[in-house]
Amino acid sequence: MQKFIIQGGTPLVGELEIEPSKNAILPILASTILLDGTVNIKKCPKYTDVLNMLEILKRMGAKVVPVNQGVNINCTYNSTIVPKELSKLMRSSIMLLGPILAKFKTAEVVYPGGCNIGSRPIDIHLKGLKELGVEIIESNGVIYCNGENMHPATLNLSFPSVGATENLIMASVFLKGTTIISNIAIEPEVMDLINFLNQSGAKIKVTGTVAEIEGVENLKTDSYNVISDRIVLGTLMLATAITRGKATFINAQPINVAKLTNILKKSGCKIDATNDKITIDATKNKFLSIGFVETQVYPGFATDLQAQTLTYATILNGTSVFLENIFESRYKHVAELNKMGANILIKDRWAVIEGVKKLQGAEVDATDLRGGAALVLAGLSCCGTTIVNNVEHIDRGYYKFEEMLSSLGANIKRV
Ligand code: EPZ
Repeated sequence: MQKFIIQGGTPLVGELEIEPSKNAILPILASTILLDGTVNIKKCPKYTDVLNMLEILKRMGAKVVPVNQGVNINCTYNSTIVPKELSKLMRSSIMLLGPILAKFKTAEVVYPGGCNIGSRPIDIHLKGLKELGVEIIESNGVIYCNGENMHPATLNLSFPSVGATENLIMASVFLKGTTIISNIAIEPEVMDLINFLNQSGAKIKVTGTVAEIEGVENLKTDSYNVISDRIVLGTLMLATAITRGKATFINAQPINVAKLTNILKKSGCKIDATNDKITIDATKNKFLSIGFVETQVYPGFATDLQAQTLTYATILNGTSVFLENIFESRYKHVAELNKMGANILIKDRWAVIEGVKKLQGAEVDATDLRGGAALVLAGLSCCGTTIVNNVEHIDRGYYKFEEMLSSLGANIKRV
């Protein structure tokens, strides 16, 4: 397992372009199962999860050819079974079910793996597929699906699950007639998938949180530019804030980090945004308390920024209170932060953070993707040396994280 060695205390300064979004690329790659011909994804960073997804698509018959910073996918799929050992590596393998069923009317997948941030059931996915007429048999951890009798339907999601929304929309695109799905997730990554499918010829209309899908015969498009990664952007904005730096991020969508921007301004950072650029100036950051923060589905505050923002809160004046509404155990980074001198109390989904002047460098363990990134931010904020172990967790959603941070002046090495 690799580690990062960080000599903290240096303000982050400079300019950086934000890479395309992992959580938009993954469903878009899965949806190529629905397409005919070859599609070029213009920029496709080698996040580990993306590499795993590309490997799955190759094993299912696609021809995947790297082209410049992107990838060409010839959609010559010929299998309906998701390779077991690969689908266990990440949660997003479950969203292959929808496109495989739509295209081939039969599918087989094992229960997905992914970050240990909660039980992460797939009941909403399976309930929706059954309502679309899919017969599902689960045995020994394998999900067998028969979609011979699939039909349009009117569905209502019990929770606006991102993955279930994506899965069920992909399952519906070829169903003759109209499928309605209400209470869908409207995260930017979901909307980017819908945009990609509509560009390929699908007929998906979203009004508020209701999707209306008109079945079509086939889908095809030549190329696509995926939206930038709002979680990487938010993480880098927080890294700049916690080190009292000043940085500009280009190829950014400020609207997608609006809630975080308000939190950072409240603590004393200066933030200017245009439609594709954000500059954060924390050189005169007063580290004021940010009070109460709770994660919500979009457009609420993103759960994927909770760990990084909580880390920022550890050195703010006064007390901050966090409520994690989305996942039931997304505080595994807290014990590690307390090893660095933070003062955090956890009770179920609640966290109470008493601000301290400074954290101290220590050896800590990454336990999940965003929690790991949070520990890097903690190391950057304090003088002395911090070692973050198990950085493979971080590589799942940050491509060459240490190079990004070093380009802004951070002293961080991968060993
Ligand atoms: C997506 O996961 C993201 N992953 C997650 O990002 C993100 O945290 C999450 O959405 C919420 O925004 C990808 O897009 C690949 P959900 P997903 O289904 O689809 C419960 C990261 O750090 N639920 O919206 O798995 C579930 O247990 C990752 O990049 C059910 O109960 O999230 C959770 O409590 C981590 N039954 C809540 O809903 C279901 O059938 C949100 O899950 C499905 C979900």
